[in-house]
Amino acid sequence: MTQPLSARSPLTCEVSFTVNGESKTIRAYPMERLLDVLRRHLGLTGAKEGCGEGECGSCSVLMNGVLVNSCLIPVLQASGADIVTIEGLATGAQLDTLQDSFLQCGGAQCGICTPGMILAASHLLKKNPHPSHDEIREALSGNLCRCTGYVQIFEAVSGAARNRATT
Ligand code: FES
Ligand code: FES
Repeated sequence: MTQPLSARSPLTCEVSFTVNGESKTIRAYPMERLLDVLRRHLGLTGAKEGCGEGECGSCSVLMNGVLVNSCLIPVLQASGADIVTIEGLATGAQLDTLQDSFLQCGGAQCGICTPGMILAASHLLKKNPHPSHDEIREALSGNLCRCTGYVQIFEAVSGAARNRATT
């Protein structure tokens, strides 16, 4: 992987955090966006840039168990944090039930919103394993999708909740 220019600048600082269970220390500008650090420094390209302004949720990651827009987080703010990206959901080649359900229901089309949608849904199902349709809509309201019309996405989340209840 090519090192970003910031890795060699004297204006950078070292930042350490945990990503998907692994300790990481990187050099970056303090105000560099967490989204860019994940994608460019660490090669974790699951989080996507949609709006870059905190509006679309396609860059969502979990930070200390809270769903955040990584395009709005300066990396210094992530110092010492426990971060989970979409790459952290699967276990090896074994997809998480949500990822599988999105595949089965056609909940992913262009895929730009999908990592954020799945992380938002995962966050919901951790707090509320049996959400109603309205609760799913509410939990995913910060994540925009231009392709699916949302119906397949809501079905995918309901399906994953049902599958988890029976396994
Ligand atoms: S890219 Fe971060 S919210 Fe849209
Ligand atoms: S699948 Fe394309 S934006 Fe949601």
